[in-house]
Amino acid sequence: MCKKKAIITGITGQDGAYLAEYLISKNYIVHGIKRRSSIFNTERIDHLYQDPHVKNPNLILHYGDLTDSMNLTRILQEVQPDEIYNLAAMSHVGVSFDTPEYTANADGIGTLRILEAIRLLNLVKKTKIYQASTSELYGLVREIPQKETTPFYPRSPYAVAKLYAYWITINYREAYKMHASNGILFNHESPIRGETFVTRKVTRAVSRIALGTQEKVFMGNLSSKRDWGHAKDYVKGMYLILQQEEPDDYVLATGIATEIRDFIKMAFLEIGIKIIFKGKNIDEKGYMVELDKNLFEKNVGLKYLSNIVKRIKNNNLVIEVDSSYFRPTEVDILVGDASKAYKKLGWKPEYNIKSLVSEMVKSDIELFKNKVINRKKYF
Ligand code: NAP
Ligand code: GDD
Repeated sequence: MCKKKAIITGITGQDGAYLAEYLISKNYIVHGIKRRSSIFNTERIDHLYQDPHVKNPNLILHYGDLTDSMNLTRILQEVQPDEIYNLAAMSHVGVSFDTPEYTANADGIGTLRILEAIRLLNLVKKTKIYQASTSELYGLVREIPQKETTPFYPRSPYAVAKLYAYWITINYREAYKMHASNGILFNHESPIRGETFVTRKVTRAVSRIALGTQEKVFMGNLSSKRDWGHAKDYVKGMYLILQQEEPDDYVLATGIATEIRDFIKMAFLEIGIKIIFKGKNIDEKGYMVELDKNLFEKNVGLKYLSNIVKRIKNNNLVIEVDSSYFRPTEVDILVGDASKAYKKLGWKPEYNIKSLVSEMVKSDIELFKNKVINRKKYF
């Protein structure tokens, strides 16, 4: 039997990497679209990479960009995919306030370019498409928890661009009978999460503070709440959405909301350190107040224990607030109701917030213990 062919845009990102591995394990040939960059940007998929001279490879990379319709159309024509997972996006909400026009182009019109290519190439009957929609669409939330029928109220250029992508996907489904579906995914994280998203920023800082290579970390709004799951669970949901007979839109979420402050506490607790917060707004600060030496030794190492004991005694300040990380309009709470996905797809996350935090902290400790950072000066 012929292997199925899938195109993944955004294959070098967190979700693209997990999904590529998952689809290859399901015997797909995966075609990934990556941007040209001045330095290698395939670290997350290097373990899947195959030399282009290998016979019958199961991973093939193409240069491309969501802002370039001709290039996307050419790749679709060459590959004739059974499935497309459109994951590429300028995905940082904070950065979208600095680059609103580019974000609209890549995240909004980018989706249109792919849908239009499917139509122009007469692939409507053959190719199914998954659009990476987002819980950010709910923004200033109209109800708690949010589900497929909850009205949207986007609060950033990113969310507004994704709103266009959401509706154009539905419009092409209705107008041309495309198998086009939206996954409205709540936040999902992992050890390979981008370093500037809040969870990874925290787990990296916790690890480096534990190893004695960082003093403290500056954070933005500590009061917002997010529904955090693991990317591994969520890419399985993406796959399931495209295996349905009929296209449709689904929320994927864990149903549990956690405050940023509590995520920070949980990450430090993973290495036996208790954090308390004092002060308000911009003057709020986080301090290390207690240490479980056995847990620290187990999860970080005996070698680093005396240093952290000294730190807690002499200077226990580890969290400060920097208002430059505040967003002009914030999304205060996101928490999803994924019962439709559970009923129709049989999708249920395996990870919970505790196992997610634990895996991320342990992975970052390993990373910073073993990585030889090349800090040669440029001049
Ligand atoms: P990510 O780690 O930031 O990855 C984004 C990917 O898109 C990267 O491969 C990036 O390439 C690529 N990309 C960015 N702009 C592009 C362009 N103009 N043309 C082609 N490729 C471009 O994001 P993620 O967390 O994996 O998320 C995947 C998708 O799901 C995104 O669309 C995101 O908005 C959406 N989403 C994510 C979450 C979440 O919590 N993770 C939740 C809901 C929805 P480079 O590697 O070259 O930068
Ligand atoms: N990034 C970041 N950095 N966020 C911070 C910080 C900080 O130092 N301090 C506090 N926060 C707060 C943000 O203000 C926001 O309320 C929350 O932490 C989460 O921020 P991010 O981790 O950047 O994620 P996001 O929720 O804005 O967006 C992510 O999830 C969306 C799904 O809901 C991204 O992955 C989006 O692409 C995705 O659509």
